[in-house]
Amino acid sequence: MKTLIFNGSPRKNGDTATLIGAVKKELKGEFMQIDAYYTDISPCIDCRICREKSGCVVNDGMTLVYKYLEECDNVLIASPMYFSELTGKLLDVASRLQTYFSARRFRKEKTNLSRKKGAVILTGGGSGNPDKAYETAVCLLHMMNAYDIYKPVCSFDTDNKPAAFDENALTEAKNIAEYFNRK
Ligand SMILES: Cc1cc2nc3c(=O)[nH]c(=O)nc-3n(C[C@H](O)[C@H](O)[C@H](O)COP(=O)(O)O)c2cc1C
Repeated sequence: MKTLIFNGSPRKNGDTATLIGAVKKELKGEFMQIDAYYTDISPCIDCRICREKSGCVVNDGMTLVYKYLEECDNVLIASPMYFSELTGKLLDVASRLQTYFSARRFRKEKTNLSRKKGAVILTGGGSGNPDKAYETAVCLLHMMNAYDIYKPVCSFDTDNKPAAFDENALTEAKNIAEYFNRK
C-alpha cells in the first residue's frame, strides 16, 4: 500500500506534524511525504504547454509526485488553516496538479491516475470554520482521482490546546490510517 502525504505546515513539530505523525504511526505500507515549505517543487507558471502535451515541462520534485500518483492508494492533505484556507505554499505545490485538469478539459484525455482514498487534516488556532479549506482540499483530492474521502479531521483552538493534547483529533488521525489500511 502506498500513501502520498501533503504537509502544508512550516512548523516541523507543530500541530499538523503531530497529527500526520499519528496517522503514520498506524499506517501500513510505504509513504511519500511532501513538506510544502521545504520541497523544491515550484508553482505552476501557467505556461499552458500541458493544454497540448501530457505531463509537465517543469522538471523538479513534482516529477516523482506525478509518478507516485499513478500508483498510490491513498492521499492525505494536512495543513494549518491560514486565513481559513490551506497554506499558500501547499497551494503552490497543488497548482502543479493543473496538468490533470488540462488532460480532461483541453486534451480530452483520461488521466493515468489510480483510484484512491483521500483524507484531510486541518489545524487552526481559533475556534475555526474548516469549510473553505476543506472544500479546497476536496477539490484537490478529486483532481488526484481520490473520491472516497474520510470525514474531515480537525484540531482547533491550538493556541490554547496544541493538537498533541487533542485526544479526539489524535484518535481520528489514527482512524484515517485504519481507513487507508482497509482493503
Ligand atoms: C498567517 C497565519 C494565518 C492564520 N490563519 C488562521 C485562521 O484563519 N484560522 C485559524 O483557526 N487559525 C489560523 N492561524 C493559526 C494556525 O492555523 C494554527 O496556529 C495552527 O495550529 C498551526 O499549525 P502548525 O503548528 O501545524 O503549523 C493562522 C496562522 C498564521 C501564521
